[in-house]
Amino acid sequence: MVIAIDGPAGAGKSTVARAVARALGFTYLDSGAMYRCVALAALERAAEPAALAPGLAISLGDRVLLDGRDVTEAIRAPEVSEAASRAAADPDVRRALVVKQRELLAGGDWVAEGRDIGTVVAPDAAVKVFLTADPAERARRRAAELGADVGVVAAEQSIRDARDATREHSPLESAPEATVLDTTGMSLEDVVGHVVALAGRGRAGEPSAP
Ligand code: CDP
Repeated sequence: MVIAIDGPAGAGKSTVARAVARALGFTYLDSGAMYRCVALAALERAAEPAALAPGLAISLGDRVLLDGRDVTEAIRAPEVSEAASRAAADPDVRRALVVKQRELLAGGDWVAEGRDIGTVVAPDAAVKVFLTADPAERARRRAAELGADVGVVAAEQSIRDARDATREHSPLESAPEATVLDTTGMSLEDVVGHVVALAGRGRAGEPSAP
């Protein structure tokens, strides 16, 4: 089965998705890492992301490999975040990556996180969660993670949020049937417990929304 976790930057998707996958013995899919790989390749090769996306070999796991090279740290650089958000607005880039994501999700049990998992990539996901948190809290978390200035992170985040939410193709939005969790005042443990409980209901074939 697929557990889809969508939401904006800094809402806690990666941490929560990883922890839920560990708790349930599922495999974790970080779809954002794929957009980041396309953006990194385009920056390095001064090429159009859409021309590169279909031909890249992207391997996700403990380490992220791009055409066999370890880019786990390189794809987290702020300029790659910005370029990924721009590349992700291109429908040809999205088409290429959605194909790769659907191939992966076709077999086994997955926790997949991104912006459009519940709406586009896996509309039949057994569980759909939309994680959010207030913007100041999201910027604070991300700044702590990166060791960066919170004001700079907040400014970059708001540009990316606006672009992700207003783009024409697969904008960031909650699937109507998703359970929306505002994690602002919640501990990681509480959020993970909540998603794991939803997964139990999803397994039993019950709808994920309360
Ligand atoms: O970790 P963070 O939330 O900052 O970003 P990410 O999940 O690694 O995604 C990087 C960028 O890829 C986002 O700003 C989105 O524009 C894009 N993305 C997307 O459009 N669709 C996805 N399923 C995942 C990421």
